[in-house]
Amino acid sequence: MSRGLRLSALLALCVAVAACPDDEGHHHHDMQRREYPQVPLAPPTRPLQWGDVNVIHTTDSHGWLLGHQKLSEPEPNYSGDFGDFASFVSHMKRLALEKDVDLLLVDSGDLHDGTGISDGFPVGGIDAHDANKFIAELPYDVMAIGNHELYIYAITLDMHQSFAPKLNGRYLSSNVNITVPDKHGNPVSIPVGDRYAKFKTRKGRKVTSLGVIFDFTGNDKNTTVQKVEDMVTETWFKEVIEEEPDFFLLVGHMAIQKNKWPLVFNAIRAVHPTTPILIFGGHTHIRDCVQLDGRSMSLESGRYMETVGWLSMDLDKRGSTGNLTFSRRYLDPNRVTYEWHSKRNNFTFDTAYGRSITKGLEQLAVNYDLNFVYGTAPQDYTISRAPYPANNSLITLLAKQVLPVALAINNTRADVPNLIIVNTGSLRFDVFAGAFTKNDQFTSSPFTNYFLYIPDVPAGVANAVLAELTKEGETRRRRDLELEAQRDAHGDVDHIYRAWLERMDSAHDAERRGTQNNTLGYVTSDACPGVGDDIPHTPLPFYSTPSYAASDPPAVSDDTLIDLVFDNFFEPQLLTVLNGVQSDKNYTTADVATYSPTLINAMFGQFAQAKWN
Ligand SMILES: *[C@@H]1O[C@H](CO)[C@@H](O)[C@H](O)[C@H]1NC(C)=O
Ligand SMILES: *[C@@H]1O[C@H](CO)[C@@H](O)[C@H](O)[C@H]1NC(C)=O
Ligand SMILES: *[C@@H]1O[C@H](CO)[C@@H](O)[C@H](O)[C@H]1NC(C)=O
Ligand SMILES: *[C@@H]1O[C@H](CO)[C@@H](O)[C@H](O)[C@H]1NC(C)=O
Ligand SMILES: *[C@@H]1O[C@H](CO)[C@@H](O)[C@H](O)[C@H]1NC(C)=O
Ligand SMILES: *[C@@H]1O[C@H](CO)[C@@H](O)[C@H](O)[C@H]1NC(C)=O
Ligand SMILES: *[C@@H]1O[C@H](CO)[C@@H](O)[C@H](O)[C@H]1NC(C)=O
Ligand SMILES: *[C@@H]1O[C@H](CO)[C@@H](O)[C@H](O)[C@H]1NC(C)=O
Ligand SMILES: *[C@@H]1O[C@H](CO)[C@@H](O)[C@H](O)[C@H]1NC(C)=O
Ligand SMILES: [Zn+2]
Ligand SMILES: [Zn+2]
Repeated sequence: MSRGLRLSALLALCVAVAACPDDEGHHHHDMQRREYPQVPLAPPTRPLQWGDVNVIHTTDSHGWLLGHQKLSEPEPNYSGDFGDFASFVSHMKRLALEKDVDLLLVDSGDLHDGTGISDGFPVGGIDAHDANKFIAELPYDVMAIGNHELYIYAITLDMHQSFAPKLNGRYLSSNVNITVPDKHGNPVSIPVGDRYAKFKTRKGRKVTSLGVIFDFTGNDKNTTVQKVEDMVTETWFKEVIEEEPDFFLLVGHMAIQKNKWPLVFNAIRAVHPTTPILIFGGHTHIRDCVQLDGRSMSLESGRYMETVGWLSMDLDKRGSTGNLTFSRRYLDPNRVTYEWHSKRNNFTFDTAYGRSITKGLEQLAVNYDLNFVYGTAPQDYTISRAPYPANNSLITLLAKQVLPVALAINNTRADVPNLIIVNTGSLRFDVFAGAFTKNDQFTSSPFTNYFLYIPDVPAGVANAVLAELTKEGETRRRRDLELEAQRDAHGDVDHIYRAWLERMDSAHDAERRGTQNNTLGYVTSDACPGVGDDIPHTPLPFYSTPSYAASDPPAVSDDTLIDLVFDNFFEPQLLTVLNGVQSDKNYTTADVATYSPTLINAMFGQFAQAKWN
């Protein structure tokens, strides 16, 4: 790309975020991504178990195609980028040829929303349209649609028009349709990709594949998600599963436990009691494995390219009824892991094709100006590895430093004492020590929440509101299964991921933590036989997160009138609580005004520019 073009792309972005510097001299553009691990990484210690049929699984990559680039533990363990992954897949394909076995590559959806590579597109663009071109270069056998492909119609349309055709019938959306105009301009509802795929493996094995999503209800207008229980009664579905393949390959965006997979599994088992069934799930961002019977295995492979899943199966004679031999492994995606398992070294690992993907992604980061440095974070700030309000909690940083600083910029009310309350759901990923870049702004808090305020609230009342919201947040997190089901249907899965971290943490007491040499990472205990993690780790510490957090209350008397500032996300709850803690005034939306036009997705950058430079 020419310099002129790059500059205009940069300027377009500056207009979009209204936060670019006028003096480039104060900010360096660090174009150099770490291409090779900068810390020594330990190799795995046991080879993968290969079978007749082997599958490499990715899921919920959410734009993390450049890998995790920070130096704080455990990030380097996930430092492999998609070019490295592409080279790995090539080498594994060659190994499969040598062993004369099948090797398939599958993905369970959620390609969008998570990093600047997907979300940092210029004005007028579409989330992940550019990044997905690199994904489509990998030899995926089957990919399935995720809920993050369905929140915005333009994204679903892009998947339908640009992405699905590149997969040649292997982008599956068994229960998801999109409405588009037909050639006469009349709306028609059709599958986003294909409903199913039937194909033969290199070894000539017949495969029937489906791509199913959970009962998602947060999808945009003109997209349709059919309930799984309705899908399995459809005529097309019954026809597709009627013929017996050598194995069924079910890939879908749905947790492998406590969800609707058994409906699909049972529908197939009713017709084919012993045909092998492989299930690859996703969406809840955890590592998990379960066997619905002895001739089937279900695998879920984490999130954010922090995990690459491996599954192998030995087949027996058609008509056999005994248990099949399976294995599964959760790999930490980095070059050392990839090199070790594909029997390569640092100098024989890269393929021209892998390098071209890495280079292409790096160029995309330059085009999106993702390496722009706002400032330098002095330490790690994590969402759940530190207790709130410790100073290394990201929630503390947001509530007590980022918001007070960012909201005061160009604000005529900055001199009025205030209490700022924020919903902690507006954080997505940890902030680590070192350069805080535009990409980090996208990963940490990409949301478009903004701040409202009510003037002249007595400080005592504002503090009572905070106390009440904190209490409510606590009880709400503990009970209310109904609310949880509602959140699940809308695709909010953070509570499931966090519960997994919590179980992991509480299973390892401090004593064992201290005597182990292992590095931090996931410690999976699932329902499948044997050890799943490729590399033993010590679990990440876990602390539960409050639903609400606030700036330090101003040092004023209870009857001093202050600004009560809050995130627009919970305006109705705030008004209810405010009217509950006092009866002097009936507050309504008419008392609420915009405090600042700055969106939360720009605030960390503004803060870093002001305080971390
Ligand atoms: C994970 O990364 C850390 C650096 O944070 C490194 O010391 C360690 O060796 C890595 N672990 C493995 C198993 O590769
Ligand atoms: C849905 O798509 C049809 C056909 O393109 C269009 O006429 C209609 O306005 C769309 N509906 C909504 C709510 O966007
Ligand atoms: C999906 O599209 C197919 C093909 O047009 C149509 O037959 C089916 O009724 C649609 N399903 C839903 C749930 O809208
Ligand atoms: C076969 O596998 C099932 C499911 O994993 C298990 O419950 C059962 O005990 C196994 N049977 C034998 C004979 O190993
Ligand atoms: C791997 O090769 C690259 C490129 O030659 C080099 O910069 C890097 O230091 C090497 N790393 C190791 C661990 O040998
Ligand atoms: C954070 O707290 C620790 C322990 O209380 C202290 O040593 C450290 O200086 C604090 N860091 C900052 C940036 O305030
Ligand atoms: C604050 O106002 C100044 C002067 O109008 C402007 O240059 C700057 O971009 C504004 N800052 C923010 C963060 O809006
Ligand atoms: C821990 O690591 C050190 C340094 O590599 C090694 O000398 C020691 O034997 C290890 N301890 C255990 C319990 O594995
Ligand atoms: C408060 O105002 C709202 C909106 O005008 C009204 O619906 C409600 O009845 C009022 N409540 C009280 C207690 O006056
Ligand atoms: Zn996801
Ligand atoms: Zn999802």
